[in-house]
Amino acid sequence: MQTPEDVPTAGEMPMLGLGTWENTDHAQCRQSVRQALEMGYRHIDTAQIYRNERAVGEGIETASVSREDIFLATKIWITNLDGDTVVESTEESLARLGTDYVDLLYVHWPAGEYDPAETLAAFERLHDRGAVDRVGVSNFEPDHVDRATETLGVPVFTNQVEIHPFLQQRQLRTHAEETGVELVAYSPLARGAVLSDQTLGAIAEKHGASEAQVALAWLREHGITAIPKATSETHIRDNWESLSLSLDERDVERIDAIDRQSRQVHPEFAPEAWG
Ligand SMILES: NC(=O)c1ccc[n+]([C@@H]2O[C@H](COP(=O)([O-])OP(=O)(O)OC[C@H]3O[C@@H](n4cnc5c(N)ncnc54)[C@H](OP(=O)(O)O)[C@@H]3O)[C@@H](O)[C@H]2O)c1
Repeated sequence: MQTPEDVPTAGEMPMLGLGTWENTDHAQCRQSVRQALEMGYRHIDTAQIYRNERAVGEGIETASVSREDIFLATKIWITNLDGDTVVESTEESLARLGTDYVDLLYVHWPAGEYDPAETLAAFERLHDRGAVDRVGVSNFEPDHVDRATETLGVPVFTNQVEIHPFLQQRQLRTHAEETGVELVAYSPLARGAVLSDQTLGAIAEKHGASEAQVALAWLREHGITAIPKATSETHIRDNWESLSLSLDERDVERIDAIDRQSRQVHPEFAPEAWG
């Protein structure tokens, strides 16, 4: 049985969190957040565009875990990234989440109203007044990260990007190691695609684990935080129990050798470098 203390951390960020994209049924979302917290999760990931911040807040409120023990992250949507709207919409997010601060606030995409100087100055103001503990970015290419680092008066704590065995992001990982920016893997289960992969299946069978657990353990071996989205208690628990799975060197090498560029999330406003 894992406890919250068993979860490795990056800075103070627990390296396993609960994702909530498309967990839009209010009661279901509230329940999954509460169940995850009561199981031991201490990192919850949401976003303005997921339209579930109120349900996430209620899940936190109804769980028997103190707010200060939870690492809560949300993201500012691309239409809210001009300076004034960053501040106003963050205040609205905080009200929906039922809290007066978030542990991490992300720029969701370098797109829409994103303007490095103006957007990041607003993030810095929110940081200085204590509404935001850390500033993160998401879907940033290395050059976007460098520009943000030069512009922002506080460190860029994280870059949240799609990473899983079928999109291993080697270049971004090297850049993150060099710059000290933590990586958070979104879609760590490739939105379900890892479940039917033969290599992961063989490793899972060898350890008496699930394919999802193998994908999450592989990310952990590489020092990458993962935020799998799970709605049912069974999936929430299966992912939690990935913490007790240790892959050996050979397992990691076999997954490292998977050579695919299979991106799951690619909206039309994605960075040009994605093609
Ligand atoms: N920053 C961004 O632009 C961005 C983009 C995408 C995602 N994200 C974040 O990353 C989170 C995770 O990514 P994602 O939602 O795209 O995909 P994901 O976590 O890779 O996969 C979620 C899917 O896997 C299923 N699942 C979860 N655990 C499972 C298990 N143990 N066994 C079998 N199936 C399992 C879920 O089913 P159930 O729901 O039925 O449990 C759901 O269908 C999101 O929820 C969001 O918080 C951020």
